[in-house]
Amino acid sequence: MEIGKLGGSLTAREILEVIQQDLERVEQAITLESIASVDAVTAIGSYLQAGGGKRVRPILVLLAARLLGDITDGAIQMAAVVEMIHTATLVHDDVIDIAKTRRGRPSSNAVWGNHICVLAGDWLYMQAFQVALRERNFHVLDVLISLTQMMVEGELIQLERIGKLDVSEADYMELIDRKTASLFSACARLGSVMGGADENVEAKLGEFAWNLGIAFQLVDDVLDFTAREHVLGKPTGSDLREGKVTLPLIYALNDGTPEERAMIATVMRDGKYEDVSFSKILGFIEKHNGFERARERAQAFTDKARAIISTFPDSSYQRALFGITDLITERDH
Ligand code: IPE
Ligand code: IPE
Ligand code: MG
Ligand code: MG
Repeated sequence: MEIGKLGGSLTAREILEVIQQDLERVEQAITLESIASVDAVTAIGSYLQAGGGKRVRPILVLLAARLLGDITDGAIQMAAVVEMIHTATLVHDDVIDIAKTRRGRPSSNAVWGNHICVLAGDWLYMQAFQVALRERNFHVLDVLISLTQMMVEGELIQLERIGKLDVSEADYMELIDRKTASLFSACARLGSVMGGADENVEAKLGEFAWNLGIAFQLVDDVLDFTAREHVLGKPTGSDLREGKVTLPLIYALNDGTPEERAMIATVMRDGKYEDVSFSKILGFIEKHNGFERARERAQAFTDKARAIISTFPDSSYQRALFGITDLITERDH
């Protein structure tokens, strides 16, 4: 199959065309593997699966594997594993963040309550490892376990930082590395291992996806302020309301006056936009070009990701990987 321009990127529709069948197999695997002997756990898994989600992480596994060779059952299983780990982190994250909405619907904690969701998240993590274990590949387990610890540490660091105004750009970058880029990187590495890659190629694709993951989270943190709520599927302005200072705000705060800093502290303290309106916060960030600067940072990481992919020979899968970088930078949710 040869679609898309030589040396160009595929569009979203074309990417889907290239991996639709693989992705369907992944969905089947997730459904099959998410059946627990306790109904609530199965229900939470299928609720989140049916709720949508972009499936960026399994797509990365599949495309990395396809870039190198034919798809194996192992690659399909690994794509299911990373989405299950992602789902587990979302279930726990929504408990931690006291979130009400996820993927445009009430979040699982809002439906089932915290107690059940903590345990369901644990179950999903363990099930993901159970599936991964079937590969009988220590390297795969090593990647997955290190990754999960990185992510949990990231959530802990973020918790410690809640409500703090003095977050540096370096602090922020370390957090998004753990929270998001580490999983993206693991996806490409696992896909490449399943595709038969040697260490060098695995590291190269891992680096590609790491850069992409950083860009993804930077864009996510801009969208938290600028997206339309019904498109995003979760309330806008949540990060600040939850006491999280992200890059657009870090840039603005660095140049802000003491009065402007006090304004941000007020929203964090209140946990709502009441004394200070959301549009006032947007105005403050815009005045200091916070969104523009954060987007430029994202673009720099996307460019690095693209440079890595351009070292692979042209194929529809290589173009699909280019296409993913476009989609991530230009996405609206
Ligand atoms: C949400 O990830 C968590 C973050 C890292 C921001 P996604 O934006 O990929 O969530 P879904 O899977 O598409 O819902
Ligand atoms: C999402 O983190 C969960 C992880 C990446 C571990 P956030 O709290 O920043 O993301 P949303 O806004 O809930 O999706
Ligand atoms: Mg959250
Ligand atoms: Mg969180």
